[in-house]
Amino acid sequence: MNTFRAPKGTYDLLPPDSARFLAVREAMSAPLRRAGYGYAETPGFEHVGLFARGVGESTDIVTKEMYTLTTRGGDELALRPEGTASVLRAALEANLHKSGNLPVKLWYSGSYYRYERPQKGRYRHFSQVGAEAVGAEDPALDAELIILAVEAHRSLGLREVRLLLNSLGDRTCRPVYREALQEFLRGLDLDEDTRARAEINPLRVLDDKRPAVREQLAGAPLMSEHLCADCAAYHARVRELLTAAGITFEDDPRLVRGLDYYTRTTFEFVHDGLGAQSAIGGGGRYDGLSEMIGGPALPSVGWALGVDRTVLALDAEGVGPELPPATEVYAVPIGEEARSALFALVTEVRRAGVAADFAFGGKGMKNAMKSADRSGARFALVAGDRDLAAGEVQLKDLASGEQTAVALDGAVEELVRRLGRS
Ligand code: HAM
Repeated sequence: MNTFRAPKGTYDLLPPDSARFLAVREAMSAPLRRAGYGYAETPGFEHVGLFARGVGESTDIVTKEMYTLTTRGGDELALRPEGTASVLRAALEANLHKSGNLPVKLWYSGSYYRYERPQKGRYRHFSQVGAEAVGAEDPALDAELIILAVEAHRSLGLREVRLLLNSLGDRTCRPVYREALQEFLRGLDLDEDTRARAEINPLRVLDDKRPAVREQLAGAPLMSEHLCADCAAYHARVRELLTAAGITFEDDPRLVRGLDYYTRTTFEFVHDGLGAQSAIGGGGRYDGLSEMIGGPALPSVGWALGVDRTVLALDAEGVGPELPPATEVYAVPIGEEARSALFALVTEVRRAGVAADFAFGGKGMKNAMKSADRSGARFALVAGDRDLAAGEVQLKDLASGEQTAVALDGAVEELVRRLGRS
């Protein structure tokens, strides 16, 4: 056995399962690419202060879950726990917001790191596909992003995704609500930790899952009852646009997210087949984040979908994207001369857009045919010296076993025809 194992809370993606992950990332990004979002890639680590200021000093992500390090040069860095702060930092640094073309629409895909207690669906290294629309305050933009995420779920065949929707207000109405909630929480019988949380980040207490706390929270004031006129109108418009687009959602006045930058629209996609880690994606508006990290006022909105949990959701529903076969044609040479001829033919087959593989390593015929079967290919191309002398190659249908001789110089066309590509 190997000496080393993957670190706790991580896992490797290898064939054949890795193909599903790629297909999920593709399905999540396709609707974004069709809607004018351009691809962004940022470093896997950033200055720790970006997340402390952006995600929030009092959040679990910043206080407990960040992987931080000090470089030899004395820089304090953190592996990125999420993508929004990084992408906004990159957009500001490149002055994309000054292009005169707002909103700046960006999408991204990559690895994120949180030092969490690992369990099914909760990992220390995980993947997200995300989207951010920077620099516009328009309910249609919030609706667009939600619709694009729903499109991704639909294209994957997921049927049991629920969309939870809330508004967290803005800098006018949130402080008033926060006070009211704090006032209410101070009157409850809470443990010391929770009382402390109520003082620093009272909205997080609404998210407490313990039955004894939940019971006491039954009469808690809700943000939805405290929205200012502007926020209420904005939220009503988002709801209207979603309804008009045929999107089903559930109003969830207790939906609070684990990151502090949200304002107004917040949402989460949950899948009931996943147990405790049911959120397969989430996002919302973050109108103040740019200023929090030293930029100008740039109202923005975005989401991130969890690739790992979406794959688990597909497993739970027993659905999945159509995967193209890894190998359609497998070449089996018999003898040295045939090796060169078939190796050249495989290159041509690939150039014609057909997935082809070759019996490498000087395998005997029997072994090579076993590899051909295992590869899942529909056809084998088999040739020995006698076939080559006749200018032919044997084309074998691996399902039926039927074998026909085809001219070597017409083999690519014949394969393309039989695979229904021409
Ligand atoms: P988030 O809700 O923290 O939001 O993460 C988004 C999704 O990433 C979650 O719904 C979940 O599917 C997945 N995820 C998070 N943590 C883990 C984990 N430990 N293991 C597996 N999957 C996980 C954000 O990250 C925000 N940046 C989203 C956003 C973009 N808001 C505005 N723009």
